[in-house]
Amino acid sequence: MLSKAGLGIGRPQGSSGRPRTLAGAFGSPLRVAKLVVFCLLALPMALLGVDVWREVAQPGSAFGPDPTEEVLHYLGQWGIRILLLTLAVSPASRLLRKPQLVRFRRMMGLWAFSYIALHFAVYLLSKAGNPFELILKDTLYKVSFAVVGFYALVMLIPLAITSTRRWQRRLGPGWRKLHRLVYPAAFAAWVHLLWLSKGDFMDPLIYGLVLALLFAERIVFRIRKERRAAAANAG
Ligand code: HEM
Repeated sequence: MLSKAGLGIGRPQGSSGRPRTLAGAFGSPLRVAKLVVFCLLALPMALLGVDVWREVAQPGSAFGPDPTEEVLHYLGQWGIRILLLTLAVSPASRLLRKPQLVRFRRMMGLWAFSYIALHFAVYLLSKAGNPFELILKDTLYKVSFAVVGFYALVMLIPLAITSTRRWQRRLGPGWRKLHRLVYPAAFAAWVHLLWLSKGDFMDPLIYGLVLALLFAERIVFRIRKERRAAAANAG
């Protein structure tokens, strides 16, 4: 929604009457930063869209012999990267002492979810037949790498749904607890990747290290917080 601030009304303007800065044109610096982050996260999707369009116009021009497989991998890779970036926001805000970074978390989480949901949609499309039967057969009963990916996706769904301020208010302290699901979801996504890596373990190794560091920071943060609370109670 466009607010007065969003339109730059009441902000410093140049002699031509136009806002002097980018922040003046779009609103607060935070809005500009959000717009930049949004565009960066949308970029891989936009590039994929261009490639798909090229491929449809001229088969073989954008992808190799198996375009569906390439699109599936591309979306999976971006899904896990953005998911890990989202997880890194809180530690980064603590380490850099920049609490405002947390304001980017929701947008990033929703982008991660979008890439992952599309990854799943491409998987369903790549298999002929009834998608619901496929989910049951391939992901719920049969033990495979897909089952872990599916559970990761299922854990992310309530987080995407309840990511709004309204849900945050409605759920109160339960919201934070629910959103801790992002940790098992990220772990399941990593297991999914590890499982399907045939021989080349570079990606799972890098993502696993990042995930381990993020988990470690979280644990240290909690321990410190509990110690501070215990000290405050004792004092
Ligand atoms: C949080 C959820 C998920 C994440 C982060 C994720 C991520 C990934 C990643 C990073 C890859 C490897 C890409 C590459 O090697 O370049 C991949 C491959 C794949 N994923 Fe997922 N995935 C998720 C959920 C799912 C689900 C729900 C399904 C289907 C039920 C699925 C099916 C597949 C398939 C079929 C492949 C390709 C396997 C192969 O190369 O043989 N993924 N995924």
